[in-house]
Amino acid sequence: MRALQIEELSGPDAVKVVDAPDPPATHFSTPGQGVLIDVKAAAVSFPDVLQSRGLYQFKPELPFVPGAEVSGVVVESSDASFSPGDRVAAMTLLGAMAERVAAPLAMTFHLPDELDFAEGAGLVLNYHTALFALKYRGRLAEGEWVLVHGAAGGGGTASLQVSKALGAKTIAVVSSDEKERVASEAGADHVVRSDADWKVEAKEISGGGVDVVLDPVGGDRFTDSLRSLREGGRAVVVGFTGGSIPEVKVNRLLLNNLEVVGAGWGAYVLSKPDFTRMLADELEEMIHAGHVRPIVGSRFPLEQAGDAMRLIEERGALGKVVLDVAE
Ligand SMILES: NC(=O)c1ccc[n+]([C@@H]2O[C@H](COP(=O)([O-])OP(=O)(O)OC[C@H]3O[C@@H](n4cnc5c(N)ncnc54)[C@H](OP(=O)(O)O)[C@@H]3O)[C@@H](O)[C@H]2O)c1
Repeated sequence: MRALQIEELSGPDAVKVVDAPDPPATHFSTPGQGVLIDVKAAAVSFPDVLQSRGLYQFKPELPFVPGAEVSGVVVESSDASFSPGDRVAAMTLLGAMAERVAAPLAMTFHLPDELDFAEGAGLVLNYHTALFALKYRGRLAEGEWVLVHGAAGGGGTASLQVSKALGAKTIAVVSSDEKERVASEAGADHVVRSDADWKVEAKEISGGGVDVVLDPVGGDRFTDSLRSLREGGRAVVVGFTGGSIPEVKVNRLLLNNLEVVGAGWGAYVLSKPDFTRMLADELEEMIHAGHVRPIVGSRFPLEQAGDAMRLIEERGALGKVVLDVAE
């Protein structure tokens, strides 16, 4: 099968297409083990870029086939809940940027009819994370205000859509005109610019401060995120695309009764298939209700995966970046 391969950790330029062996079939004869998928689309995300440089926490042995997010058609399944031909979206640990991949059963989901394969590839990582972070970690409730950083990116657009589905009011923080447009398309009620005084604007818009900040960016802006919260507000830490990990002076938490909450979706759900299934069911309802539909900003053929990764690395991604693997 055709697959991408990383042989050295020198970034997107070193990613190349090779002829790789299919995933071993034995996996699928063990009940509860996995689903073999003919990949239609694979998504590219920030961790893939970090991994191509050896900068991600999970460091596989070289060479490896990158990619963790796919959509496609079931070839074989160890469990009767999936049949050959079913349309699915899935998360894998690795190997998704290939024509065939084995996905764990607990991380494979039927792809709702409303979504095409490109949208399906952008579904699991970002939307499960958004729902987990906003509802189950940040306790975002109907009628509350949420401020989303990096709001035009894959995780950001997912967080805006899920926030609206939860009945919240949204403020998006973005860095360009184009990203303003994408954040609005994803359901932002208000959009503010990261190079302006967004903290003051957010306080004015929300009438005194937001209830939740969803932060995949980190870096210098974290202290202002805390300042933009109202009493009892929660800052949810999701990632650090800004490059540095912020430190908090805890007196800020005491003064206004604030919380800083970590949201690490992957590690949390790994041993909790029932919780994962519940997230998937909630998201499916949001899809049927028209609140959730991944925004695919760019599509590339498998051969141009390096360009796709560079787009993310250079802060140019709008919504989700997807590789078309098969017709
Ligand atoms: N905790 C979890 O369970 C979990 C799960 C999934 C992903 N994540 C993390 O969430 C983060 C966001 O992922 P994503 O897929 O949404 O990424 P993305 O699509 O590339 O979006 C990231 C956004 O970060 C902003 N940003 C600010 N400074 C940046 C910089 N120096 N370089 C690049 N972007 C910068 C950009 O928005 P502006 O240009 O508008 O500022 C960009 O749109 C990543 O760190 C990822 O590892 C965490």
